[in-house]
Amino acid sequence: MSSVERTQVAIIGAGPAGLLLGRLLERQGIEAVILEARSREYCESRIRAGLLEQGSVDTLVEAGVGERLQREGIVHGGIYLQLDEQRTHIAMDELTGSSVTIYGQTEVVKDLFDARVASGGRLLFGVEDVRIADLETDRPSVHYRHNGSNHELQADFIAGCDGFHGVSRQSIPEGVLQLWQREYPFAWLGILAQVAPSTDELIYARSAHGFALHSMRSHEVSRLYIQVDPAEDIADWPDRRIWDQLHLRLAAPGWSLQEGPVFEKSITPMRSFVAAPMRYRNLFLAGDAAHIVPPTGAKGLNLAVADVSRLAEGLAAHYASGDDSGLEHYSDRCLERVWRAQHFSWWMTQMMHTDPSDDAYGDQLSRSQIRYVCNSRAAATSLAENYVGLPFASTLGG
Ligand code: APR
Ligand code: PHB
Repeated sequence: MSSVERTQVAIIGAGPAGLLLGRLLERQGIEAVILEARSREYCESRIRAGLLEQGSVDTLVEAGVGERLQREGIVHGGIYLQLDEQRTHIAMDELTGSSVTIYGQTEVVKDLFDARVASGGRLLFGVEDVRIADLETDRPSVHYRHNGSNHELQADFIAGCDGFHGVSRQSIPEGVLQLWQREYPFAWLGILAQVAPSTDELIYARSAHGFALHSMRSHEVSRLYIQVDPAEDIADWPDRRIWDQLHLRLAAPGWSLQEGPVFEKSITPMRSFVAAPMRYRNLFLAGDAAHIVPPTGAKGLNLAVADVSRLAEGLAAHYASGDDSGLEHYSDRCLERVWRAQHFSWWMTQMMHTDPSDDAYGDQLSRSQIRYVCNSRAAATSLAENYVGLPFASTLGG
């Protein structure tokens, strides 16, 4: 037996992109059903980055899911850039007038789940065999299995928010999408530790031993990363070995790193990827389904937020007045921001990591670039405005 249901927007994936889109549409009185392959517990325990641009904070607050974020988020006006043992503060707020907020993606997802449950919006976990059909018509549909039975969801639009490995991008006929990608010869080994951060703001460090990042989740929890070979097995990294590398790579005169119990650790490969256009007929791609950045600079979540706020605006205009210009320009407008973030994330990654495939000349170029950013106001401002995610078009008065 197969049941048939109709909605205005079928959203595939309940990561930050799908959940926030659902929330923004709900605020506009647009009905959506969210289909998620995993369980709520699984989605809530996935550890990802934790840095929000001011524009992302504003969007979450306007969407009515910013109450805990405003209470618990930690505002940072700068970062530290470190080369060997020399640490330099980059005052992003002074250089750009803007700052960033530390608040875990996991917490954003929890807040969005709570809001969805409170409003009674449709959200199904554990859906299987998701398949997009009738994409060539005005009434596309999503077929799936849930609790052992088959279902069909007919919609005006489908939002593919199902991440890099999802089905949405793959449902677009061959030849439509252009793909760009780059893999990196290193990965990030990340830990969460129950210890107060040893720094007031994030430290990005390049040393002869490789890259390290000291981040945080709260005043009690530190988030730390080290660059490792992508083939490394986490089983070969007991806590002692990780702390030893962190001490080596983050060492600075008069400063020490506090250790604490490690309660999460994992290795994440790094990749840059873009698929364009981000639309095929009535299917729109958003977030990781369309683009991936390496985590240096933490742009992934911020891009997902920017995509879905554009998409929600376009859909709102469509339903309110039949104005489809927002939907028509969705892909081009998103891709402008996406490519800026692609370049910034790649730039920051190659500047801060030791590349085993690079020669000694390349190593010196990256080191020189870090010194330039630390010593030139113009170079520091360039890093800062990309990091905080300003709307660049306005800054030259053009
Ligand atoms: N059917 C339904 N759901 C699916 C399917 C499918 N076939 N395939 C994947 N999903 C779900 C995943 O289980 C996941 O919950 O889609 C969701 C996609 O969520 P994310 O991977 O978090 O992607 P997105 O919402 O775009 O968020 C981007 O996540 O990876 C980080 O750095 C990235 O911070 C950025 C953010
Ligand atoms: C994180 O806290 O997880 C984080 C912060 C900054 C980054 C990447 C990750 O650039």
